[in-house]
Amino acid sequence: MTALTIPGLDQAPTTHERLLSWVREVAELTTPDQVVWCDGSQQEWQRMTDRLVEAGTFTRLAKKPNSFYAASDPSDVARVEERTYICSAEEKDAGVTNNWMDPNEMKATMTELYRGCMRGRTMYVIPFCMGPLDAEPPKLGVEITDSEYVVVSMHIMTRMGAKVLERLGAAGDFVPALHSVGAPLEPGQQDVPWPCNDIKYITHFPEERMIWSFGSGYGGNALLGKKCYSLRIASAMARDEGWLAEHMLILKLISPEEKVYYVAAAFPSACGKTNLAMLQPTIPGWRVETLGDDIAWMRFGEDGRLYAVNPEAGFFGVAPGTNWNTNPNAMRTIEQGNSLFTNVALTDDADVWWEDMEGEPQHLTDWKGRDWTPDNGENAAHPNSRYCTPMSQCPILAPEWDDPKGVPISAILFGGRRKTTVPLVNEAFDWQHGVFMGATLSSEKTAAAAGKVGDVRRDPMAMLPFIGYNVGDYFQHWVNVGKSADAAKLPRIFYVNWFRRGEDKRFLWPGFGENSRVLKWIVDRLEGNAAAADTAIGRVPTADELDLGGLDTPKADVDEALKVDVEEWKAELPLIEEWFDTVGDSLPSSMRDELVALKQRLGH
Ligand code: GTP
Ligand code: MN
Ligand code: MN
Repeated sequence: MTALTIPGLDQAPTTHERLLSWVREVAELTTPDQVVWCDGSQQEWQRMTDRLVEAGTFTRLAKKPNSFYAASDPSDVARVEERTYICSAEEKDAGVTNNWMDPNEMKATMTELYRGCMRGRTMYVIPFCMGPLDAEPPKLGVEITDSEYVVVSMHIMTRMGAKVLERLGAAGDFVPALHSVGAPLEPGQQDVPWPCNDIKYITHFPEERMIWSFGSGYGGNALLGKKCYSLRIASAMARDEGWLAEHMLILKLISPEEKVYYVAAAFPSACGKTNLAMLQPTIPGWRVETLGDDIAWMRFGEDGRLYAVNPEAGFFGVAPGTNWNTNPNAMRTIEQGNSLFTNVALTDDADVWWEDMEGEPQHLTDWKGRDWTPDNGENAAHPNSRYCTPMSQCPILAPEWDDPKGVPISAILFGGRRKTTVPLVNEAFDWQHGVFMGATLSSEKTAAAAGKVGDVRRDPMAMLPFIGYNVGDYFQHWVNVGKSADAAKLPRIFYVNWFRRGEDKRFLWPGFGENSRVLKWIVDRLEGNAAAADTAIGRVPTADELDLGGLDTPKADVDEALKVDVEEWKAELPLIEEWFDTVGDSLPSSMRDELVALKQRLGH
C-alpha cells in the first residue's frame, strides 16, 4: 500500500506503536480529509459544539447553559438489535440469542463498507476510559469516528482525551473501537444535519476485544464505550476473569441511623433503572444517593464481598416521562446545562420539552422538525428520545462514585414490567435460586397493550441484547460466581415488579419515590428484622410487613400487588419451559433443577 499523507495523521500525541499503526491503517482505508487526536479539553468541546451548530446538527438552547438539541435522521433513533452481531470464532459461542457471522467474512464485508467511507470528513481519534482512570488496571479504549456528535457525547459519557493517552503509555492495553456514519462527501457536496447509512452493522469480535460499527450515529450504536464495550465486550472479559458486567443501576441507601447499604438493580430498557437510581424516598429519614443508572461492573474485593463500579461518567436517560414529580433529581441534573438532548421537542423559546414534562406548550417543533400543537395527536418527542448529561451535576451523587475500589453490594434486584403474576417483591431462597429468577426475568413490550401472555418476552438479567457470548454459558458463569464466594458475603437477590395492575388496569403500586418502602423492607431482611412467607416462588412479605405509613394507596391494592397466585404461576411454567428449550444444550443443569423444584412447590 502506498503511504498516504493525511493532515494530522503524523501529529499523534503518543508513541504507542499498536495504536499508531491501527490509526494509520484505518486512515488509509477510510481516507478522511484530516485526522484529529481528541484531547478532551473545554476548547475542544467549544470547537465541536460550534461546528455542530454551524452544520445544523445542533440547536443551542436559550434556557440551559452550554446545552444543545439534536434531531436524528428519522430512521436512526434507537439501537438496532437485528443488525448487532457477536462474531466469535465459533458460532456456538455467540449462542442462540445473538446474531452471528464468521469473523473473517464479517471483516471482509465491513472492510468494503469502510473503504473510502470518511471521504470529505474528519477522522477523530478518541482515547477513553470506562471506569475510574486510577483503576488497576484501567479499562481503556480508543474510538475512531467521523462523527462530531459522537466526540461531544463521549466528552459527557466517558473519561476521555489527553489524560487517557497518558495512562495508556507506550504499550498499555486498549479496546479498538471503529465507528463511521458511512456517509462520505464528494467534493462540493452539502452535508446533511444527521449523516448515516441505510446499511448498518454493530459488530463485536469478543476474542479480539474489538468493535466495528457502521452506518448509525445514534447513542448505543455509535458511543462504543457504552453497550458495545461496557456490556458486550466486558461480559466476555468478565466470563474469562471471574467478574460480572451487568445492565444495572447502583444506588446507595442511607437509613435514619446513618447505616449505608449499596444496591444494584437490573431492569430491561425503559423499566425504571434511571428512576430508581435517583429515587427520592417518601419515608422519613431515609436517603438515596446515586452511583450509576445503567451499567455495573462487579468483582470480588479482598474481603470476599462483591464490589460494583459504574464504568460511565454521564447519564443517557429516556426523556419522556421524566419530570419534577417522577424524577426531580434528573431534572435538577439537566437544569444545570452542559447537556445534549436528542429527538426531544423544541419550544418556541429554544428550550426542550417532551411528553409528561410540566407545562402545557401550545406550540412546539417536534422531533421531526414539524410544527406541533396539542391537538395534533402525535408525540412531540420520540418515545426513545434521550438526555445526555454529566453525572457530576447530579445533586445526590454519592461522593464515592469515582472510587476505583467500587462499593460493596448488599442486594441485587431483578425486575421487569408485568401486569400480572409477578409480586411487588420476592426474595430468592439462595444465590442459585436468584440466578434462576434472573435467567427467567420477563417483561412486557409496552404497557399500552391489553394483558395477553403473548406480550411477555424473556429478558435474562435484563441483558438479552447485551450478552457478548452464549446465554447458557452466561447463566453458568453467574452460578459459578456464586460458588466461588463465601455464601454469607454474597449479595441477597430479590425480584421486584412495580407494574402489576388491578382489574381496572390501574397500577396497584404507586411506584417512583414510594419504592423506598420496598427498599426498606429489603434492608430489614438483610438485618434479620423483617418477616416473609415462604411461597412457591420465593420469600414474599405481607402488606403488614411493609412500612406503609402515610401511603394513600388502599391496603387491598398492596395485598393484591403482593399476591402469589398459584394458578397464574402454573400458567407461567410453559413459558419458562419454552425459553429454556430455546436456550438449548448450553442451559446449566442447575437451572433445569430450579425449574423442577418450582414445579414441585407449585404442586404441578
Ligand atoms: P434504559 O435507560 O433504556 O436502560 O432504561 P431505564 O431502565 O433506565 O428506564 P427508565 O428509568 O428511563 O424508565 C422509564 C419508564 O419507566 C417510564 O415510562 C416511567 O414512567 C416508568 N417507571 C419508572 N419507575 C416506575 C415506577 O416505579 N412505577 C411505574 N408505574 N412506572 C415507572
Ligand atoms: Mn436509563
Ligand atoms: Mn440501558
